[in-house]
Amino acid sequence: MSRSLPDLPNVEAALLQPAATADFRMVGRAAHAPRFLLLYGSLRERSYSRLLTLEAARLLSAMGGDVKIFDPRGLPLPDGEPETHPKVQELRQLAQWSEGMVWTSPERHGALSGIMKAQIDWIPLAAGALRPTQGKTLAVMEVSGGSQSFNAVNQMRILGRWMRMLTIPNQSSVAKAFQEFDEAGRMKPSAYYERVVDVMEELYKFTVLTRDVSPWLTDRYSERRESAGQLTLRVNQTAI
Ligand SMILES: Cc1cc2nc3c(=O)[nH]c(=O)nc-3n(C[C@H](O)[C@H](O)[C@H](O)COP(=O)(O)O)c2cc1C
Repeated sequence: MSRSLPDLPNVEAALLQPAATADFRMVGRAAHAPRFLLLYGSLRERSYSRLLTLEAARLLSAMGGDVKIFDPRGLPLPDGEPETHPKVQELRQLAQWSEGMVWTSPERHGALSGIMKAQIDWIPLAAGALRPTQGKTLAVMEVSGGSQSFNAVNQMRILGRWMRMLTIPNQSSVAKAFQEFDEAGRMKPSAYYERVVDVMEELYKFTVLTRDVSPWLTDRYSERRESAGQLTLRVNQTAI
């Protein structure tokens, strides 16, 4: 049966094929433990965003994840040092290694902290063939000293979009964080803690579900068109 094609004069129809012909039966399932990088945005000695990150790490490990936490101490401000700086290299290698991330920021003056933002700013969207964040999963959490607020998680959702990450629907915001941890630094049982468990479970599931198809998810028509254009240009140059 013949099918009339929609009229798309400005679309290169051949370049739409990768989306149309995806066959998920061909996708192999990775067997290794899902890899998570956890970032937090504070340098305080008793930092609740770090303690919350440690709780998230315990949960993801218990579910079967391979978890690494980046220590932001010593990371220079963006562009303050060359990108060969060892802390920058460490952060970028961890980002590249990971399949999912957790970003936990304190709320400072109604925003995410500068320390949190500096880490994100040091991670390139693409470096040659490497795409340290694109198509990877992300969970966002915040701690605050006042009443419950969502400013930092909302801003980190925007940043996740900018980094082309799959930010999961659930999130955590721990208000009056100074009341939520015991002397040993462990989070007390509460609805906030239950929420963190839910968020980590959801992140784990989304990561396992999407990591094998991540290159396909991030493959874009406009980029295929751009590289096809570059190819035509090179062919023309050769012909000249
Ligand atoms: C400069 C500064 C600004 C802050 N701004 C806010 C704020 O806007 N809203 C809020 O609820 N708490 C605010 N706080 C409290 C912090 O969110 C709280 O102390 C949090 O635990 C800090 O994170 P950390 O423990 O990981 O360092 C602020 C604290 C500082 C030092």
